[in-house]
Amino acid sequence: LKIKEKHFHSIWKDQEDKFCQIIDQRQLPHKLSIHQLHNSKDVFTAIREMYVRGAPLIGVTAAYGIYLASLHTDSLAELNKVADYLKTARPTAVNLEWAVDLLMEKISEDYDSAQRIALEEANRIRTESIAECKSIGAHGLKIIEEIYKRNPDRPVQILTHCNAGWLACVDYGTATAPMYLAHDAGIPIHVWVDETRPRNQGARITAFELGQHGIPHTLIVDNVGGLLMQQKKVDLAIVGSDRTARNGDVANKIGTYLKALAACDNDVPFYVALPLSTFDLTLDSGVQIPIEERSPTEVETVQGILNGKIEKVKISPEGTPTLNLGFDITPAKFVTGLITNKGTIKANEKEILKLFKQ
Ligand code: MRU
Repeated sequence: LKIKEKHFHSIWKDQEDKFCQIIDQRQLPHKLSIHQLHNSKDVFTAIREMYVRGAPLIGVTAAYGIYLASLHTDSLAELNKVADYLKTARPTAVNLEWAVDLLMEKISEDYDSAQRIALEEANRIRTESIAECKSIGAHGLKIIEEIYKRNPDRPVQILTHCNAGWLACVDYGTATAPMYLAHDAGIPIHVWVDETRPRNQGARITAFELGQHGIPHTLIVDNVGGLLMQQKKVDLAIVGSDRTARNGDVANKIGTYLKALAACDNDVPFYVALPLSTFDLTLDSGVQIPIEERSPTEVETVQGILNGKIEKVKISPEGTPTLNLGFDITPAKFVTGLITNKGTIKANEKEILKLFKQ
């Protein structure tokens, strides 16, 4: 995707394969800051502190974390320790353990080639993520096209929550991929962007992405979506996922569930866009998905730019007990469809297992 006409991915290596570079998303949209990752500790911090975020990008970054660790470790046992440590950086996005386990499985078959295997696999996961997101876009585009054909007199009105965009992946995004492809195909769309408290990924990142691509959008606070649906101003919702259980229950950014409830009450189709690596077939249902609890500071403060400097200001009384749960579970019954890189399916165990058998 382009930022000021320059093409960017969210993560890339240096020419000599010595380190990785990422966009420090904590500073977006106010500052475009490129940050280098040299070892597994840098990678852990970047994931934990959300320099990078979004399930697919967390997975790709962790894969490079194993590669960088392989440059500095002397035994498989040591590398396994690093792998376990990286997997604790954030608990909900399954792409993290998926990527780490995938690399470690291959490396443990031939530890002497660890560096080569890790680099090849990390590069492959990165490249495949781009292709998967593009393919999610193509499948989601069909849904948007259908809605546009039924009502060609106005732009298709799409609501999204958090950022499941190219900055949450390597390129295109999951939830945003159908939007980019629809816009590029000349279908008029307009996106309602939930701000997504407490870290405001919608206000800071999705609004930034859509703006850079020239897609019409409007930023709204998290509680507006229900009213807009009642007013018939939303044709469909598309969100991402951090982990989807085998019965189709979806973990995604906190607040997603409430949007799905409102969508159900107002007959608004509610889609979840995700690559196959975001399914967790080991879990029967969403209740088993670990929910990340983050620092209260994120709820107690708001970050913005003041006189050219990024600042945080406190908004709650000193000492107020505060709870900061990062994700919620949307039961499968509220999900109209799962838009995957292999096609759009119903959110149920039968269709999910069929998808994996293909
Ligand atoms: O806490 P974040 O910003 O990592 O949460 C991101 C989301 O909830 C996304 O919707 C999800 O990871 C899908 S990203 C394509």
